[in-house]
Amino acid sequence: MEPQRVRVAFVGFGNVGQALARLFLRKSDELRQQYNLQVEVSGIATGRHGIACDPNGIDLTDALQVIQSDQALDLLSKRNCGTIEDCLATCQADVLFESIPVNYQDGQPALDILRQALSLRMHAITANKGPVVHGYAELSRLARENGRHFLFESTVMDGTPIFSLFRHCLPAADLRGINGILNSTTNYVLTRMEQGDSFEGAVKAAQQIGITETDPSGDIDGWDAAIKLAALATVLMDFPLKPHQVERYGIRSLDETKVQAALKQGKRWKLVCRAWREDSRVRAKVAPEMVTADSPMYNVNGTSSIAQFDTDTLGLLTIIEQDPSPDTTAYGLFADFIRAIQA
Ligand SMILES: NC(=O)c1ccc[n+]([C@@H]2O[C@H](COP(=O)([O-])OP(=O)(O)OC[C@H]3O[C@@H](n4cnc5c(N)ncnc54)[C@H](OP(=O)(O)O)[C@@H]3O)[C@@H](O)[C@H]2O)c1
Repeated sequence: MEPQRVRVAFVGFGNVGQALARLFLRKSDELRQQYNLQVEVSGIATGRHGIACDPNGIDLTDALQVIQSDQALDLLSKRNCGTIEDCLATCQADVLFESIPVNYQDGQPALDILRQALSLRMHAITANKGPVVHGYAELSRLARENGRHFLFESTVMDGTPIFSLFRHCLPAADLRGINGILNSTTNYVLTRMEQGDSFEGAVKAAQQIGITETDPSGDIDGWDAAIKLAALATVLMDFPLKPHQVERYGIRSLDETKVQAALKQGKRWKLVCRAWREDSRVRAKVAPEMVTADSPMYNVNGTSSIAQFDTDTLGLLTIIEQDPSPDTTAYGLFADFIRAIQA
Protein backbone atom coordinates (compact mmCIF):
# COMPACT_ATOMS: atom_id res chain seq x y z
CA MET A 1 0.00 0.00 0.00
CA GLU A 2 1.27 3.48 -0.88
CA PRO A 3 2.36 5.35 2.29
CA GLN A 4 0.25 8.30 3.46
CA ARG A 5 2.18 11.47 2.62
CA VAL A 6 2.14 13.95 5.49
CA ARG A 7 3.52 17.45 5.02
CA VAL A 8 4.86 19.18 8.12
CA ALA A 9 6.06 22.71 8.83
CA PHE A 10 8.27 24.00 11.63
CA VAL A 11 8.00 27.46 13.17
CA GLY A 12 11.05 27.65 15.41
CA PHE A 13 14.12 25.64 14.50
CA GLY A 14 16.37 25.98 17.54
CA ASN A 15 17.36 23.29 20.08
CA VAL A 16 13.93 21.64 20.00
CA GLY A 17 13.08 22.09 16.30
CA GLN A 18 16.45 20.66 15.24
CA ALA A 19 16.17 17.74 17.69
CA LEU A 20 12.76 16.97 16.17
CA ALA A 21 14.25 17.12 12.67
CA ARG A 22 16.94 14.62 13.69
CA LEU A 23 14.28 12.37 15.24
CA PHE A 24 12.22 12.40 12.02
CA LEU A 25 15.33 11.40 10.07
CA ARG A 26 16.16 8.64 12.58
CA LYS A 27 12.60 7.29 12.74
CA SER A 28 11.69 7.53 9.06
CA ASP A 29 11.82 3.74 8.56
CA GLU A 30 9.61 3.08 11.63
CA LEU A 31 7.13 5.71 10.47
CA ARG A 32 6.89 4.04 7.10
CA GLN A 33 6.87 0.42 8.30
CA GLN A 34 4.72 0.70 11.43
CA TYR A 35 2.46 3.63 10.55
CA ASN A 36 2.61 3.73 6.74
CA LEU A 37 3.55 7.41 6.90
CA GLN A 38 5.93 9.34 4.72
CA VAL A 39 6.82 12.70 6.21
CA GLU A 40 7.82 15.63 4.01
CA VAL A 41 8.82 19.05 5.26
CA SER A 42 7.24 21.95 3.38
CA GLY A 43 8.15 24.94 5.57
CA ILE A 44 10.70 25.99 8.19
CA ALA A 45 10.50 29.46 9.71
CA THR A 46 12.79 31.06 12.29
CA GLY A 47 13.40 34.46 13.87
CA ARG A 48 16.85 35.44 12.55
CA HIS A 49 17.76 32.46 10.37
CA GLY A 50 15.24 33.08 7.63
CA ILE A 51 12.43 31.01 6.15
CA ALA A 52 12.38 28.09 3.74
CA CYS A 53 9.09 27.21 2.11
CA ASP A 54 8.39 24.68 -0.62
CA PRO A 55 5.27 22.47 -0.90
CA ASN A 56 7.38 20.06 -2.99
CA GLY A 57 9.62 19.35 -0.04
CA ILE A 58 12.67 20.67 1.78
CA ASP A 59 15.55 18.30 2.52
CA LEU A 60 15.83 18.08 6.33
CA THR A 61 19.50 17.11 6.30
CA ASP A 62 20.26 20.19 4.20
CA ALA A 63 18.18 22.34 6.55
CA LEU A 64 20.13 21.08 9.57
CA GLN A 65 23.43 21.76 7.80
CA VAL A 66 22.37 25.28 6.80
CA ILE A 67 21.22 26.22 10.30
CA GLN A 68 24.24 24.66 12.00
CA SER A 69 26.56 26.68 9.78
CA ASP A 70 24.60 29.78 10.87
CA GLN A 71 23.32 30.54 7.38
CA ALA A 72 19.83 31.66 6.40
CA LEU A 73 17.31 28.96 5.47
CA ASP A 74 16.18 31.07 2.50
CA LEU A 75 19.02 29.34 0.63
CA LEU A 76 16.78 26.27 0.43
CA SER A 77 13.83 27.98 -1.28
CA LYS A 78 13.52 28.66 -4.98
CA ARG A 79 11.59 31.87 -4.34
CA ASN A 80 11.19 34.50 -1.63
CA CYS A 81 8.89 33.08 1.05
CA GLY A 82 7.69 36.40 2.50
CA THR A 83 6.63 36.39 6.14
CA ILE A 84 5.91 33.47 8.45
CA GLU A 85 2.19 34.02 7.78
CA ASP A 86 2.86 33.84 4.01
CA CYS A 87 4.89 30.66 4.48
CA LEU A 88 2.08 29.00 6.47
CA ALA A 89 -0.50 30.08 3.92
CA THR A 90 1.45 28.56 1.00
CA CYS A 91 3.32 25.54 2.38
CA GLN A 92 0.21 23.29 2.38
CA ALA A 93 1.31 21.53 5.57
CA ASP A 94 -0.91 19.04 7.37
CA VAL A 95 0.87 19.56 10.68
CA LEU A 96 2.55 22.57 12.24
CA PHE A 97 5.23 22.22 14.93
CA GLU A 98 5.71 25.43 16.87
CA SER A 99 8.77 25.82 19.13
CA ILE A 100 9.59 29.49 19.49
CA PRO A 101 10.62 31.22 22.75
CA VAL A 102 7.95 31.48 25.42
CA ASN A 103 6.15 34.76 26.09
CA TYR A 104 4.88 34.59 29.68
CA GLN A 105 2.70 37.71 29.38
CA ASP A 106 0.37 36.90 26.47
CA GLY A 107 1.72 33.87 24.57
CA GLN A 108 2.37 35.89 21.40
CA PRO A 109 3.34 35.57 18.59
CA ALA A 110 2.95 31.80 19.02
CA LEU A 111 -0.76 32.15 19.77
CA ASP A 112 -1.44 33.82 16.40
CA ILE A 113 0.75 31.29 14.56
CA LEU A 114 -1.22 28.38 16.06
CA ARG A 115 -4.55 30.14 15.33
CA GLN A 116 -3.53 30.52 11.70
CA ALA A 117 -2.38 26.89 11.43
CA LEU A 118 -5.64 25.52 12.86
CA SER A 119 -7.71 27.82 10.66
CA LEU A 120 -5.79 26.40 7.68
CA ARG A 121 -6.80 22.93 8.94
CA MET A 122 -3.35 21.89 10.12
CA HIS A 123 -2.86 19.93 13.33
CA ALA A 124 -1.12 22.33 15.71
CA ILE A 125 1.55 20.88 17.99
CA THR A 126 3.58 23.05 20.33
CA ALA A 127 6.41 22.80 22.86
CA ASN A 128 5.65 26.35 24.00
CA LYS A 129 3.76 26.90 27.27
CA GLY A 130 2.64 30.43 26.36
CA PRO A 131 -0.20 29.47 24.00
CA VAL A 132 -1.39 26.76 26.40
CA VAL A 133 -1.96 29.11 29.33
CA HIS A 134 -3.12 32.02 27.18
CA GLY A 135 -5.14 30.16 24.56
CA TYR A 136 -6.02 26.62 25.68
CA ALA A 137 -9.82 26.98 25.48
CA GLU A 138 -9.79 28.96 22.24
CA LEU A 139 -7.22 26.80 20.43
CA SER A 140 -8.95 23.58 21.54
CA ARG A 141 -12.27 24.93 20.21
CA LEU A 142 -10.66 26.03 16.94
CA ALA A 143 -9.11 22.56 16.58
CA ARG A 144 -12.51 20.88 17.15
CA GLU A 145 -14.25 23.20 14.67
CA ASN A 146 -11.65 22.34 12.02
CA GLY A 147 -11.51 18.63 12.77
CA ARG A 148 -7.89 18.92 13.85
CA HIS A 149 -5.86 18.53 17.05
CA PHE A 150 -4.13 21.03 19.30
CA LEU A 151 -1.52 19.06 21.26
CA PHE A 152 1.20 20.20 23.66
CA GLU A 153 2.70 17.21 25.50
CA SER A 154 6.21 18.69 25.46
CA THR A 155 5.29 21.86 27.30
CA VAL A 156 5.63 20.34 30.79
CA MET A 157 8.42 17.86 31.70
CA ASP A 158 9.90 17.77 28.21
CA GLY A 159 8.00 14.99 26.51
CA THR A 160 7.04 12.94 29.57
CA PRO A 161 3.43 11.84 28.95
CA ILE A 162 1.40 13.83 31.46
CA PHE A 163 -1.44 15.39 29.48
CA SER A 164 -1.96 12.20 27.48
CA LEU A 165 -1.82 10.15 30.70
CA PHE A 166 -4.79 12.06 32.09
CA ARG A 167 -6.53 12.24 28.69
CA HIS A 168 -6.26 8.53 27.93
CA CYS A 169 -5.59 6.62 31.14
CA LEU A 170 -7.35 8.47 33.97
CA PRO A 171 -10.94 8.98 32.83
CA ALA A 172 -13.14 10.86 35.32
CA ALA A 173 -10.30 11.14 37.84
CA ASP A 174 -10.48 14.32 39.90
CA LEU A 175 -7.11 16.01 40.31
CA ARG A 176 -7.06 17.58 43.77
CA GLY A 177 -3.54 18.94 43.75
CA ILE A 178 -0.07 18.93 42.20
CA ASN A 179 3.37 19.10 43.85
CA GLY A 180 6.67 18.94 42.10
CA ILE A 181 9.91 20.24 40.72
CA LEU A 182 9.10 21.41 37.21
CA ASN A 183 12.08 23.53 36.21
CA SER A 184 15.28 21.74 35.15
CA THR A 185 17.51 24.80 35.09
CA THR A 186 16.96 25.82 38.72
CA ASN A 187 17.27 22.22 39.93
CA TYR A 188 20.52 21.89 37.98
CA VAL A 189 21.80 25.23 39.33
CA LEU A 190 20.97 24.17 42.92
CA THR A 191 22.74 20.82 42.43
CA ARG A 192 25.83 22.53 40.94
CA MET A 193 25.93 24.96 43.88
CA GLU A 194 25.80 21.98 46.29
CA GLN A 195 28.89 20.71 44.44
CA GLY A 196 30.72 24.04 44.87
CA ASP A 197 29.84 26.18 41.83
CA SER A 198 28.92 29.84 42.26
CA PHE A 199 25.41 30.95 41.23
CA GLU A 200 26.73 32.59 38.02
CA GLY A 201 28.96 29.61 37.15
CA ALA A 202 26.06 27.20 37.62
CA VAL A 203 23.75 29.28 35.37
CA LYS A 204 26.45 29.39 32.69
CA ALA A 205 26.83 25.59 32.88
CA ALA A 206 23.05 25.21 32.44
CA GLN A 207 23.15 27.44 29.36
CA GLN A 208 26.01 25.41 27.91
CA ILE A 209 23.98 22.18 27.99
CA GLY A 210 21.01 23.88 26.27
CA ILE A 211 18.40 23.48 29.04
CA THR A 212 17.74 27.12 29.89
CA GLU A 213 14.99 29.20 28.38
CA THR A 214 16.25 31.51 25.62
CA ASP A 215 16.38 34.15 28.41
CA PRO A 216 17.54 32.24 31.57
CA SER A 217 16.02 34.81 33.97
CA GLY A 218 12.68 33.17 33.13
CA ASP A 219 13.98 30.04 34.86
CA ILE A 220 15.84 31.71 37.73
CA ASP A 221 12.93 33.97 38.73
CA GLY A 222 10.43 31.11 38.71
CA TRP A 223 8.47 32.16 35.62
CA ASP A 224 9.07 28.87 33.80
CA ALA A 225 7.94 26.84 36.83
CA ALA A 226 4.93 29.16 37.28
CA ILE A 227 3.79 28.88 33.67
CA LYS A 228 4.13 25.07 33.76
CA LEU A 229 2.07 24.93 36.93
CA ALA A 230 -0.47 27.26 35.31
CA ALA A 231 -0.62 24.98 32.24
CA LEU A 232 -1.23 21.91 34.42
CA ALA A 233 -3.94 23.68 36.43
CA THR A 234 -5.58 25.05 33.29
CA VAL A 235 -5.74 21.73 31.45
CA LEU A 236 -5.90 19.10 34.20
CA MET A 237 -7.73 20.96 37.00
CA ASP A 238 -10.03 22.80 34.61
CA PHE A 239 -9.14 26.14 36.18
CA PRO A 240 -7.66 28.74 33.80
CA LEU A 241 -4.62 30.14 35.58
CA LYS A 242 -2.15 32.69 34.21
CA PRO A 243 1.52 32.78 35.28
CA HIS A 244 1.10 36.10 37.12
CA GLN A 245 -1.65 34.51 39.26
CA VAL A 246 0.87 32.02 40.65
CA GLU A 247 2.54 33.23 43.85
CA ARG A 248 6.14 33.16 42.65
CA TYR A 249 9.60 33.32 44.22
CA GLY A 250 12.74 32.38 42.27
CA ILE A 251 16.12 31.15 43.54
CA ARG A 252 18.09 34.43 43.54
CA SER A 253 17.94 34.49 47.36
CA LEU A 254 20.05 31.30 47.47
CA ASP A 255 23.80 30.98 47.04
CA GLU A 256 26.35 28.17 47.35
CA THR A 257 26.91 28.87 51.08
CA LYS A 258 23.20 28.48 51.96
CA VAL A 259 22.77 25.45 49.72
CA GLN A 260 25.81 23.68 51.15
CA ALA A 261 24.80 24.51 54.74
CA ALA A 262 21.42 22.84 54.14
CA LEU A 263 23.12 19.78 52.69
CA LYS A 264 25.31 19.46 55.81
CA GLN A 265 22.06 19.25 57.85
CA GLY A 266 20.76 16.48 55.54
CA LYS A 267 18.40 18.85 53.68
CA ARG A 268 18.21 20.20 50.13
CA TRP A 269 16.90 23.45 48.70
CA LYS A 270 14.46 22.84 45.83
CA LEU A 271 12.27 25.17 43.79
CA VAL A 272 8.94 23.56 44.65
CA CYS A 273 5.69 23.99 42.71
CA ARG A 274 2.36 23.47 44.47
CA ALA A 275 -1.22 23.80 43.19
CA TRP A 276 -4.26 22.95 45.29
CA ARG A 277 -8.01 23.47 45.32
CA GLU A 278 -9.33 26.00 47.81
CA ASP A 279 -13.06 26.73 47.96
CA SER A 280 -14.12 26.98 44.32
CA ARG A 281 -10.72 27.96 42.93
CA VAL A 282 -7.23 26.66 42.40
CA ARG A 283 -4.30 28.32 44.14
CA ALA A 284 -0.70 27.89 43.06
CA LYS A 285 2.73 28.74 44.42
CA VAL A 286 6.34 28.39 43.29
CA ALA A 287 8.97 28.94 45.98
CA PRO A 288 12.28 27.57 47.27
CA GLU A 289 11.73 25.01 50.05
CA MET A 290 14.18 22.99 52.12
CA VAL A 291 13.19 19.36 51.69
CA THR A 292 14.25 16.52 53.95
CA ALA A 293 15.50 13.06 52.93
CA ASP A 294 12.06 11.48 53.39
CA SER A 295 10.60 13.65 50.58
CA PRO A 296 10.46 12.08 47.09
CA MET A 297 11.88 15.42 45.86
CA TYR A 298 15.13 14.99 47.84
CA ASN A 299 16.85 12.70 45.33
CA VAL A 300 15.55 14.45 42.22
CA ASN A 301 18.76 16.24 41.28
CA GLY A 302 20.43 17.90 38.31
CA THR A 303 18.14 18.43 35.35
CA SER A 304 15.59 15.84 36.52
CA SER A 305 12.01 16.74 37.42
CA ILE A 306 9.20 15.27 39.48
CA ALA A 307 5.43 15.72 39.53
CA GLN A 308 3.07 14.28 42.12
CA PHE A 309 -0.61 14.20 41.24
CA ASP A 310 -3.11 13.86 44.08
CA THR A 311 -6.14 12.16 42.53
CA ASP A 312 -9.42 10.99 44.06
CA THR A 313 -9.13 7.63 42.29
CA LEU A 314 -5.48 6.54 42.51
CA GLY A 315 -4.32 8.65 45.44
CA LEU A 316 -0.85 10.10 44.98
CA LEU A 317 0.68 9.31 41.60
CA THR A 318 4.35 10.25 41.14
CA ILE A 319 6.25 10.70 37.88
CA ILE A 320 9.99 11.29 37.80
CA GLU A 321 11.75 12.38 34.65
CA GLN A 322 15.46 11.61 34.53
CA ASP A 323 17.88 13.86 32.64
CA PRO A 324 15.67 15.47 29.99
CA SER A 325 17.10 17.20 26.92
CA PRO A 326 15.86 18.80 23.69
CA ASP A 327 15.77 15.21 22.38
CA THR A 328 13.16 14.15 24.96
CA THR A 329 11.18 17.32 24.23
CA ALA A 330 11.34 16.43 20.53
CA TYR A 331 9.95 12.99 21.32
CA GLY A 332 6.90 14.60 22.98
CA LEU A 333 6.23 16.51 19.73
CA PHE A 334 6.82 13.36 17.71
CA ALA A 335 4.41 11.32 19.87
CA ASP A 336 1.80 14.10 19.53
CA PHE A 337 2.34 13.94 15.77
CA ILE A 338 1.52 10.22 15.62
CA ARG A 339 -1.48 10.71 17.93
CA ALA A 340 -2.81 13.54 15.74
CA ILE A 341 -2.38 11.67 12.46
CA GLN A 342 -3.81 8.42 13.79
CA ALA A 343 -6.81 9.84 15.67
N1 LIG B 1 14.94 23.27 25.23
C1 LIG B 1 14.14 22.37 25.78
O1 LIG B 1 14.56 21.26 26.14
C2 LIG B 1 12.66 22.67 25.95
C3 LIG B 1 11.89 21.80 26.74
C4 LIG B 1 10.48 22.01 26.81
C5 LIG B 1 9.93 23.08 26.15
N2 LIG B 1 10.72 23.94 25.43
C6 LIG B 1 10.08 25.06 24.76
O2 LIG B 1 10.35 24.95 23.36
C7 LIG B 1 10.46 26.27 22.79
C8 LIG B 1 11.78 26.35 22.02
O3 LIG B 1 12.87 26.06 22.87
P1 LIG B 1 14.34 25.97 22.24
O4 LIG B 1 15.22 25.50 23.34
O5 LIG B 1 14.30 25.23 20.96
O6 LIG B 1 14.60 27.53 21.94
P2 LIG B 1 15.73 28.15 20.97
O7 LIG B 1 16.87 27.18 20.82
O8 LIG B 1 15.99 29.51 21.48
O9 LIG B 1 14.99 28.22 19.54
C9 LIG B 1 13.94 29.10 19.29
C10 LIG B 1 13.63 29.08 17.81
O10 LIG B 1 12.54 29.96 17.55
C11 LIG B 1 12.92 30.91 16.55
N3 LIG B 1 12.21 32.17 16.79
C12 LIG B 1 12.44 33.10 17.74
N4 LIG B 1 11.50 34.07 17.66
C13 LIG B 1 10.70 33.75 16.62
C14 LIG B 1 9.58 34.35 16.01
N5 LIG B 1 9.06 35.49 16.50
N6 LIG B 1 9.00 33.75 14.96
C15 LIG B 1 9.51 32.58 14.46
N7 LIG B 1 10.56 31.95 14.99
C16 LIG B 1 11.15 32.53 16.06
C17 LIG B 1 14.42 31.02 16.67
O11 LIG B 1 14.97 31.52 15.47
P3 LIG B 1 16.41 32.26 15.47
O12 LIG B 1 17.37 31.37 16.19
O13 LIG B 1 16.72 32.41 14.02
O14 LIG B 1 16.18 33.55 16.18
C18 LIG B 1 14.77 29.55 16.92
O15 LIG B 1 14.74 28.85 15.69
C19 LIG B 1 10.33 27.26 23.94
O16 LIG B 1 9.02 27.73 24.00
C20 LIG B 1 10.65 26.41 25.18
O17 LIG B 1 9.98 26.87 26.32
C21 LIG B 1 12.06 23.75 25.31
